[in-house]
Amino acid sequence: MYILAIESSCDETSVSIIKDGCEEVSTVILSQMNTHANYGGVVPEIASRMHVENITLVIDDALRKANMKMDDIDAIAVTYGPGLIGSLLVGLMAAKTLAFIYNKPLIPVHHIAGHIYANNLVKRLEFPLIALVVSGGHTELIYMKEDYSFEKLGGTLDDAVGEAYDKVARVIDVPYPGGPLVDKLAFEGENTYDLPLPLNDDSYNFSFSGLKSAVINLAHNEKQRGHEIIKENMACSFQDRVVEILVKKTMKALKDYGVKNLIVAGGVAANKGLRNGLTEACEEAHVNLIIPEMKYCTDNAAMIGAAGYYAYKRGDIADLDLNSKAVTELK
Ligand code: KG4
Ligand code: ZN
Repeated sequence: MYILAIESSCDETSVSIIKDGCEEVSTVILSQMNTHANYGGVVPEIASRMHVENITLVIDDALRKANMKMDDIDAIAVTYGPGLIGSLLVGLMAAKTLAFIYNKPLIPVHHIAGHIYANNLVKRLEFPLIALVVSGGHTELIYMKEDYSFEKLGGTLDDAVGEAYDKVARVIDVPYPGGPLVDKLAFEGENTYDLPLPLNDDSYNFSFSGLKSAVINLAHNEKQRGHEIIKENMACSFQDRVVEILVKKTMKALKDYGVKNLIVAGGVAANKGLRNGLTEACEEAHVNLIIPEMKYCTDNAAMIGAAGYYAYKRGDIADLDLNSKAVTELK
């Protein structure tokens, strides 16, 4: 089964053709990052306009790269949410139009299901599993008993972890997008700043706004004393705390649910500190850890095509009145 998948929930216009939920035939990603970098973050209005300009070109390109025509495609999968509403609408309208014109089933895919199923492009998922989803908009622990069954165990009560990275980056004068650069700096510094371990309780929930505020206050106090913050050390101190709490709660979930498979998903899955921390903890606990290749960590349509296949098998087929949702729970 060949699925043409469309992802446009944030600042990447991406189209992919995926065979049977696991084989990538072609993927095209058009990133708007350089444009938004001028503003220090994604500007929603600009993002949707750029999606409008590019979506048909990206669809054509993905088909051309696959050497396929629309007649060869069996279904259309699309991210319906969550994300920036204007951005989502562009991908959704394109998907609905293709589904209507070519009379193909339309498969609605939740963005987070996509991030999880990115791992299926690397290795077939094994169940039961726990998924740690960490991105610019999400920090969630999800239990999956079988394909396309999602039970949320916990999530962030305030900032998502990627968002905290981007805000801390701003405080220590690291340019957008901050996450990857803070990660890099962390390995050049030492843990010298005393930061709190956030929401260190027995729940599966997270909170990063207190940790972010602690970084802001420390930077402010140092400045008032006429001292410069040592960026590398602040990055390292911050990253150590983030990794510590993510690893701790993830390992607790695995233990509580008696699960031996862990997958990590979302943009922050690219974080080297987190990769190292989880690798070590999983080895010790004899847990099978799967982290996607870097190219599948950030937003792409390949993951939507992979998830779309299992959504279709579950019977998720949308009518043409399907709407985008800025906020929506994974079900
Ligand atoms: O999944 P993604 O591409 O978009 C969302 O769905 O949110 O994730 C983007 C987020 C950004 O906040 C970015 O700063 C963060 O992931 N990120 C990282 C790293 N690479 C990307 N955060 C920490 N360390 C990294 N290496
Ligand atoms: Zn994402």
